[in-house]
Amino acid sequence: MTALLEVRSLDKRFGGLHVTRAVSLTLAAGERVALIGPNGAGKTTLVNQVSGVIAPSAGSIHLGGEDVTRRSQAERVRRGLARTFQITTLAPHLAVQRQVELALFEREGLAGHAWRSIDGYPVLAEEAGALLVQLGLGDRAGWPTERLAYGEQRLVELALALALRPKVLLLDEPMAGVPRSDAARLLAALDALPGDLAVLVIEHDMDLVFRFARRIVVLADGAVLAEGNPDAIRANPDVRAAYLGH
Ligand SMILES: Nc1ncnc2c1ncn2[C@@H]1O[C@H](COP(=O)(O)OP(=O)(O)OP(=O)(O)O)[C@@H](O)[C@H]1O
Ligand SMILES: [Mg+2]
Repeated sequence: MTALLEVRSLDKRFGGLHVTRAVSLTLAAGERVALIGPNGAGKTTLVNQVSGVIAPSAGSIHLGGEDVTRRSQAERVRRGLARTFQITTLAPHLAVQRQVELALFEREGLAGHAWRSIDGYPVLAEEAGALLVQLGLGDRAGWPTERLAYGEQRLVELALALALRPKVLLLDEPMAGVPRSDAARLLAALDALPGDLAVLVIEHDMDLVFRFARRIVVLADGAVLAEGNPDAIRANPDVRAAYLGH
């Protein structure tokens, strides 16, 4: 089966700093994969290359079998790739519903045409509302984002990514900064993601990792240290020494 996402021998250097070292990775439809590793291991840098935020120094990235290494972020989104960020990137004053509508507007290629008002597309408003209900945010639709609890804001970010109807979803620390009291809602939302979506999640929260992922990739010092099912990773002495042990 062709992988939806394939990363081949990716390398990234920032000057003398070698932060991605010959990383190869595949993600097939419906897979749930976690990318773990110590702070500074290069997890976000890897996702930044896959999503097109930064260019790799060497290697290639393939989406649906097509080489997208030199494609823009928007072109990758159009080919089914979406991501969320380690740090919130929401517009604080905008209503939650509006924010999702804008993402849908963008997806439909309607943005950038000044004469087109989003209010002329009630079907998008309906889709945005349905997405918020799906994520348990139905009663927050009219609220400015900044008034939401942090865990709910992370759910809005998930809504924005899902609004793009991705085939491949990259989540960079969805639980970061989320208090325990909100964690269950986020976990439930992740569990409820469409079954055929390919998901790669970066997380330090090992409860989430071992519950969510069927396969785990461990990154250390920019290179893949180990890869396997959760039991194999838990038992791997190299992984314990580099990361899980502390
Ligand atoms: N733009 C940049 N310029 C120079 N060095 C960078 C840049 N971006 C990242 N780095 C370095 O690359 C290394 C990997 O950083 P990265 O943010 O990818 O780690 P991470 O695994 O996501 O860590 P964390 O778990 O803390 O989020 C670090 O040493 C970091 O300082
Ligand atoms: Mg990171």
